[in-house]
Amino acid sequence: MSETAVAGATLEAGSADAAASPRGVLEVNDVVVQFDTDGGRITAVDGVSMHLATGETLGLVGESGCGKSTLARAIMQLVPMQQGSVRLEDTDLGTLSRRELRRMRHRIQMVFQDPRGSLDPRMSVSSLIGEPLRVHGIGDRAGRARSVAEAMELVGLPEAVADRLPSELSGGQQQRVGIARSIVTAPAVLVCDEPVSALDVSIQAQIINVLDELRDELDLAMLFIAHDLSVVRHLSDRVAVMYLGQIVETGTASEVFTEPRHPYTQGLITSVPRADAESAARLQTARRLVLGELPSLLDPPSGCRYRTRCPYATDECAATEPPPEAVDHAGGLHWVRCHHWRGIAAGSAPQPSSNSQEQAP
Ligand SMILES: Nc1ncnc2c1ncn2[C@@H]1O[C@H](COP(=O)(O)OP(=O)(O)O)[C@@H](O)[C@H]1O
Ligand code: SF4
Ligand SMILES: [Mg+2]
Repeated sequence: MSETAVAGATLEAGSADAAASPRGVLEVNDVVVQFDTDGGRITAVDGVSMHLATGETLGLVGESGCGKSTLARAIMQLVPMQQGSVRLEDTDLGTLSRRELRRMRHRIQMVFQDPRGSLDPRMSVSSLIGEPLRVHGIGDRAGRARSVAEAMELVGLPEAVADRLPSELSGGQQQRVGIARSIVTAPAVLVCDEPVSALDVSIQAQIINVLDELRDELDLAMLFIAHDLSVVRHLSDRVAVMYLGQIVETGTASEVFTEPRHPYTQGLITSVPRADAESAARLQTARRLVLGELPSLLDPPSGCRYRTRCPYATDECAATEPPPEAVDHAGGLHWVRCHHWRGIAAGSAPQPSSNSQEQAP
């Protein structure tokens, strides 16, 4: 896309800063998010750090309930953080007033899982896509109309649907509207929270391709969240694997997929369906066997949080939380939180202790 068109008069804000910044366009540092629930306080996000460069996609994977959406909402400043910071371009979002934050919002946008739920059913496609421009006061009427038309073209929506209501669209088209809404303000960062999980498998690849093309054309930094590794594989430059509120492994997509070091990542990859795989039902069973049930955040295991499901867990795993360690050959990009990753990789993992997989006291 030409920078002017979808952006309309928009690129004034932030773009010079972004170009000047030697760091990532998005820097997430040691974020903690807690909720008070009926059962007590839970830590849904527990010290997560990550960064994103312009034009880069980070895939974030982990099972349902591990804290992915909470992290996304913390990045968007939609949920309070107990600790940590989120820096967009050169601005620490946590220091902004509500008003200042609203003004920054067009630089960081979100695509939601359920397109239908995030679209006002009474608004036409073109009004929905133009709404963020109106809200942020971007461009004049003619400029906004041009930006809407260009955003529609970018996400592959035909002109003919411009006057339709969301209920008159297919699920895939609804999600294209959701994506068009989030790119029409020319954001620097797009946070996609399971954008294909609610769609038919046949449509998922189309939407992933749309996002992939947009990332290239608009030089977006993209955080792409999924509960399934196979979904992020095609799209991601780097991958982060989340377990019970923490990142347990991160690296380039090729490293994480070809040489996963954390037993959890290894389990996730084993359970990724392949073309030659057996039926979906048998894969589900295999997945449960490999992964077991997710422990409660109300009573997380001591030491390594994965120890209650890990086939290699030892007493050390129950006693001490593993710090992130760089995997030697990868120049620091690939790191893992596991006491025994070297032994596991070398085929000489320590003998599991009999009681280390028991739930925390
Ligand atoms: N507003 C909230 N109040 C209380 N608990 C919440 C809230 N939002 C999320 N949680 C809890 O935080 C944990 C992480 O949830 P979530 O971030 O939605 O996970 P994911 O997106 O990975 O499925 C879950 O245990 C969930 O029940
Ligand atoms: S630290 Fe121990 S329990 Fe945790 S993943 Fe590594 S081997 Fe398994
Ligand atoms: Mg979620």
